[in-house]
Amino acid sequence: MNTVELITKKRNGGELSREEIRYLVMGFTEGSIPDYQMSAFLMAVYFRGMSRQETIWLTQEMKMSGDIADLSWIHGIKIDKHSTGGVGDKTTLIIGPLAAACGVPVAKMSGRGLGFTGGTVDKMEAIPGFRTALAEEEFFGQVQRCGISVIGQTAHIAPADKKIYALRDVTATVENLSLITSSIMSKKLASGSDGILLDVKCGSGAFMKTEEDARSLAEMMVDIGRADGKKMLALITDMNQPLGNAVGNALEVREAIRVLRGEGPADITELSVALAGRMVFMGELADSAEDGIAKAGDALRSGAGLDKFREFVRGQGGDPAVAEDLSLLPLSELRMEIAAPRDGYITGIDAMTIGLASQHTGAGRQTKEDVIDHGAGILLHHKSGDKIRAGEALMTLYSAEASKLELAAAEAAKAVQIGDEAPVLPPLIRGSVGEEPVPENREKECGL
Ligand code: URA
Repeated sequence: MNTVELITKKRNGGELSREEIRYLVMGFTEGSIPDYQMSAFLMAVYFRGMSRQETIWLTQEMKMSGDIADLSWIHGIKIDKHSTGGVGDKTTLIIGPLAAACGVPVAKMSGRGLGFTGGTVDKMEAIPGFRTALAEEEFFGQVQRCGISVIGQTAHIAPADKKIYALRDVTATVENLSLITSSIMSKKLASGSDGILLDVKCGSGAFMKTEEDARSLAEMMVDIGRADGKKMLALITDMNQPLGNAVGNALEVREAIRVLRGEGPADITELSVALAGRMVFMGELADSAEDGIAKAGDALRSGAGLDKFREFVRGQGGDPAVAEDLSLLPLSELRMEIAAPRDGYITGIDAMTIGLASQHTGAGRQTKEDVIDHGAGILLHHKSGDKIRAGEALMTLYSAEASKLELAAAEAAKAVQIGDEAPVLPPLIRGSVGEEPVPENREKECGL
């Protein structure tokens, strides 16, 4: 086989065979195909697209480029969850314990974040003592004993994706549905769970800006996961404003605990119960999604989810007392409030701008080498739709350095739009893929 011929074939709109895709993926991962040829191939895919069959093969070859976790000996139907990423998204810290409290085994490998705030692993590491690097036996043992473990994804899971994604990032070839699907799904399929629940975000703070694009991505990921024999469901959810009120690692852990105590903001509580409920249903511990949502709601109200959170934290070396005493979590010393410049209604809080401001505080990385400040971030005191008075605090920013705080505040001030009329807000849960349409009544949907 010849790489130039394969690039030419794709450039001319041809369909590659499984062997041809394997040749490209393996050759690039092993180093026999250089960056410049892979870049040309990715650009050809960007313009010409890939068929469903090609996308399945690409995902499979990327998945098989490294280790495939074998969770088969852990009793029960293991359900994983993946969010396409957003600002203030700390749902894993909530839904993992809620689903596990309902009996769903959760064996999750998560990433660190680049940009915005940290990833789930960075958030968990904000808890004093918490370890995200567990040996395989420890990881499995924790899932067996406690029902949940979350660890950092090892370099051995889908190494082809690591190399290809790094190249896509610098060759303007990220935004292609087949490439995004194969990238996300190769890692998820290699992580070994029986089912995957996807939270596909849409809006200004998301990868997919429109609901239509988010739905197309969700449909493709559900299809490709099912082709691999996995149970799949996806929710499409709003990411125009940050989820919840906290953005930044320890701030987000605080908020997650507050949700598990039943004291959290309404939006993140609603979404967490909706997601955890679907995990319970997918894990065959509920008769329907509605029944799963009711069970997840019960686990929240009874405190079973919070108990599971403590057990989970203790099991991975963290201090479970954080569940009672939030002051055990780090919080940066310097703080600055941003006040409303006028009376009115908040018509929007741009998630992307808040994400960038949060990164400036030190809560996110700009390069892989940056060290995250777990105590930095932004706490919103109001959300879209709230009525506010001039001078009222809109948010508080936390950082360890005054210069970072200044930079972050200048950015964050641009995020909030204030108007004279109360805005009509889109529903948080826009729809679903792989199940009946989500009812419009959000209270009923949430089961709370
Ligand atoms: N996240 C991934 O892991 N891969 C993509 O291609 C896009 C988002």
